[in-house]
Amino acid sequence: MFDDRNETALPRQTANGNAMASQRNTTGNSLNPYLRKPAVLGGYPQIRTRRNRTDDWTRKLVAENRLGTEDLIWPIFVQEPDGTSGISSMPGVLRYGLDCVADAVARAAELKIPAIAVFPYVDESLKTPGCEEAFNPENIICRAVRLIRRAVPDIGIICDVALDPFNSLGHDGLVVDGRILNDESVEALCRQALVQAEAGCDILGPSDMMDGRVGAIRRALDDAGFQDSKIMAYSAKYASAFYGPFREAVGADGALTGDKKTYQLDFANSDEALRQVELDLDEGADMVMIKPGMPYLDIIHRVKARFGVPTMAYQVSGEYAMLKAAAANGWLDNDKVVYESLMAFKRAGADAILTYSAIEMAERLRAG
Ligand code: PBG
Repeated sequence: MFDDRNETALPRQTANGNAMASQRNTTGNSLNPYLRKPAVLGGYPQIRTRRNRTDDWTRKLVAENRLGTEDLIWPIFVQEPDGTSGISSMPGVLRYGLDCVADAVARAAELKIPAIAVFPYVDESLKTPGCEEAFNPENIICRAVRLIRRAVPDIGIICDVALDPFNSLGHDGLVVDGRILNDESVEALCRQALVQAEAGCDILGPSDMMDGRVGAIRRALDDAGFQDSKIMAYSAKYASAFYGPFREAVGADGALTGDKKTYQLDFANSDEALRQVELDLDEGADMVMIKPGMPYLDIIHRVKARFGVPTMAYQVSGEYAMLKAAAANGWLDNDKVVYESLMAFKRAGADAILTYSAIEMAERLRAG
């Protein structure tokens, strides 16, 4: 029942309480000592913000954001040889062969993770300057998608639309004489999106940052009868050094010459990100994404506040590597910083988060 220690801190309600209050109003005097105290509104000691933080239950009651497994998207890597292999800069992350990828995805579905994002590790021998393997319906991504679709029908499958894993020159678009061609790349990206949609991919994720690609992919999908295939545009994708471990994971680190600054965003800018998001929405993007995540929470916040559309965020490979490296040294508590970092995305306004920690986080959320 009520704790009567608190009673002493409250003005007692009496039968003639109203009369006393009105007496005080007219005379400035009262029989009630608590009403005689000068009113200090909006300040200490009446206001004590710590009251709402006294116990776990009260903190839960007033929590403004929540993180659930439904907020998580799990990026996974697929590889040609059967079995799994590790990625040295991403401890705990595996590349899955086609013999075991379905089981891994089934585990994600069982944990109620709504969607996965599939990335390929492509054998060097299949990479060309024309990136033909990207639109080969038998490429590793398409085969993986068909397998997953059959084995785990209810999970959402996202595919990256970008040429880099298939490009012997390592860039997201076609390179001629050291220049990354825009319109020719968009044509190739449309072909890539189509083979992915045909394989059963639900969400196309153009991460290439070519101009006009969202509209072109939308038209290509619609013309081919894929009106319900969704586009999650990597709209605000920055030219970031935080992608380093990912490039090892997909085997693109050796191939890349130069950087991606002629197409990915300059990290000095945020208005430019809003413009990029606006254009992608006008071209038909169903959801937009901001990437990287943690150093770009301001962008997530601005995008969500301005457009109010489904806003995804990508906690990228370098962010994962930082947290894991510090945890491995005993400098940070892994479970706590992963949870805190993901909640920060929710606070900033993200609807869902792509994170390599999706499985571990979902397991901990389930355990309570
Ligand atoms: C390639 C792509 C990249 C990532 C997702 N898609 C790397 C890049 O642009 O170089 C990065 C993901 C990560 O770092 O986790 N189009």
